[in-house]
Amino acid sequence: MLRGRTVLVGVSGGIAAYKTCELVRWLRRREAAVVVVMTPAAERFVTPLTFEALSGNPVITSLWGEQKHELVLPDAARRKTTGKVGHIDLAEAADVMVLAPATADLIARLVHGEAPDALTTIVLASRARLVIAPSMDFGMWRHAATQENVRVLRRRGAVIVGPASGELASGLMGPGRLADIEEIGAAVEQAAARRASLAGVRVLIGAGRTEEPLDPVRVLTNRSSGRMGFALAEAARDRGAEVTLVAGPASVEPPLGVALVSVTTAAGMESALKRAVAGAGVVLMAAAVADYRPRRVAHEKLKRGTAPLTLALEPNPDILAGLAASRRPGQVFVGFALETSRGIERARAKLAAKRLDLVVLNSPAKGIGGETSVVTLVEARTERRLPEQSKREVAEAILDRVLELRVARRKAAKPARAAVKPARAAAKPARAAANPKRGGKAR
Ligand code: C5P
Repeated sequence: MLRGRTVLVGVSGGIAAYKTCELVRWLRRREAAVVVVMTPAAERFVTPLTFEALSGNPVITSLWGEQKHELVLPDAARRKTTGKVGHIDLAEAADVMVLAPATADLIARLVHGEAPDALTTIVLASRARLVIAPSMDFGMWRHAATQENVRVLRRRGAVIVGPASGELASGLMGPGRLADIEEIGAAVEQAAARRASLAGVRVLIGAGRTEEPLDPVRVLTNRSSGRMGFALAEAARDRGAEVTLVAGPASVEPPLGVALVSVTTAAGMESALKRAVAGAGVVLMAAAVADYRPRRVAHEKLKRGTAPLTLALEPNPDILAGLAASRRPGQVFVGFALETSRGIERARAKLAAKRLDLVVLNSPAKGIGGETSVVTLVEARTERRLPEQSKREVAEAILDRVLELRVARRKAAKPARAAVKPARAAAKPARAAANPKRGGKAR
């Protein structure tokens, strides 16, 4: 159900535009407020009048024209609008933007942030979730440029639905058909549910690798790229969370729009996380922490010699176990694991030993550092293996589960909170008396 949600349907110039009429009807049946935005090429396939009748809203075809009618939007969406700048208003009001059909050209423009028309301008200005249903001839779909572009958009958090395989308008057979309307609609519903699902929640994330110095120029470290932790940070940010990202060195740029704390060593990571943990509702520890650090750091660069060199190492603290040991009721703790054998069994042992709610077990076959992952979500009594997908998609699946766990943890924490209340109330008169400036008023 999409009641109270505003869905912007972006139509670009492909023959499948006629099927988008059905998508608009589907969304309306689900009680979404629908605003259709068409590119000039789309108007060659279907008239704006058709979409106007189906959506119950004026259709946006240009940034320059006078808008003839007021848009019919839910109250929540209306409150976000200024009434001054049409395309910015729409960008703010939309919960989800679904682009169907999305041509190769539209996809390429989105990758580069080009905004030559109303649709691309609105998409560029918006923070709404993006669902993209490509449709084109299969040669265009299979072209390296399109494939690369789709990968970029997926990495940025867009959901790509289809294309389906079958007979194309050209008469050729292959991938390129617009996905089924139900499939696109289901992706819109899922995107709407995820949007704002962590609004106001403080999410603390440990990411990247740590580097333990041996001497002024050498370090002990590992091959973790930081991608998983950064994907989690982006996904949480896009769900409205206040994200603190404690990041060690990484092979990719950290996301924008989060509070970034850069660290290098395990000790640095531990103290940064400890400072932030009390206020966090969710803790996601995806960092690849070095298990050992050199006992002594040489002040001078170690010299090459002919005799074997023995390094004395001492264990780093288990940061996550330390944080979870003093967890507050209602907090959700998630750890990661990579095992080369007996993965589930060991992940479950870690879950118990570190007092976690969920361990994300990485498949050893996929290793670390790549763009996709195969993970299993391991909990005390259940385990769920996810298909190979981008780290952003894995992040979304983890956050979906975190939300469910959060509800359960907060429910379990409630009686404890209620029990605290009478004690606080009893303490009030004493506090008021001790602070005469407040005049003893109950606050
Ligand atoms: O015990 P293991 O290293 O396999 O556990 C992995 C999980 O524990 C990861 O979430 C990792 O970030 C965290 N960890 C930690 N401090 C360490 C080692 C691992 O917080 N010293």
